[in-house]
Amino acid sequence: MTFSQKNIISIKDFSKKDIKYILRVAERMEPIARSKETSNLLYGKILGMLFYEPSTRTKLSFETGMKRLGGNVIGFTEAAGSSMTKGENLADTARMVGEYADSIVIRHEMEGAARYVSDLVDVPVINAGDGAGQHPTQTLLDLYTIKRIFGKIKNLNIALIGDLKYGRTVHSLAYALALFNVKMSFVSPKELKMPDEIVHDLNKIDVVARETENIHDVLDKVDVLYVTRIQKERFPDPEEYQKIKGAYLINSELLKGTDLIVMHPLPRVDEIAYDVDSTPNSKYFEQAFYGVPVRMALLKSII
Ligand code: NCD
Repeated sequence: MTFSQKNIISIKDFSKKDIKYILRVAERMEPIARSKETSNLLYGKILGMLFYEPSTRTKLSFETGMKRLGGNVIGFTEAAGSSMTKGENLADTARMVGEYADSIVIRHEMEGAARYVSDLVDVPVINAGDGAGQHPTQTLLDLYTIKRIFGKIKNLNIALIGDLKYGRTVHSLAYALALFNVKMSFVSPKELKMPDEIVHDLNKIDVVARETENIHDVLDKVDVLYVTRIQKERFPDPEEYQKIKGAYLINSELLKGTDLIVMHPLPRVDEIAYDVDSTPNSKYFEQAFYGVPVRMALLKSII
């Protein structure tokens, strides 16, 4: 696809070629993201941020990226500070910000919210997470991280572990990895398995992921352990969360003797022990940094 003025709603809209293109542009953005070079590519442009759900990295890396490219940001990062509290609906807010800004980034608890907004406004809309749906920009930075560390994505052995039911990062990532001929495993408690719809979609293109509850089934085989947080806020019943929380703990003892890398979209709660941070396995902070060049690549390409 040509990216100019395109909405970024679901990773399913990306071909392998599209993904590779963004990763290549991101590489060129890296020196600017690291402040080794400066740029005015988006001078005079404004990014509107509608964050109805909490965010740290996604919001700040979009903001950083926009500013590193000479642009500006407006918006709110807490529905409480907007006219939502006066009863304004999402459609009215989005239409208005669509008139103010050159592109909109939205995070919302409702699946489909970004697609809905993209139908209402004339500027390109970027999905920064829609409920348990998709998180395409996170996936692009995840892939960029893997590519930077291994020099390739193809033929790697990658396990997604944790909350595969409600975690939007793993939903998007599974679709993208399916395009790269990787060996995929899904590790989760049975209550939090990858949704059937996604498993079927992957099977349709002859991608079969190994599913297990036991991390030891995959530990000695994987190159990448992609760990996720149990998505407490999406459990209809808090008691269910209490039963499942702490299902997996990745600590340095578990990783001893392996050279796999540990990734995590962050925030972590209790699924990765702090003693992992100083091991060579841990890559999640590096991964968080790559959010900046990757989001710069997207902003540059669509605005
Ligand atoms: C993720 C999200 O919001 O889906 N965070 C992020 O964007 N890095 C993961 C999570 O909240 O667990």
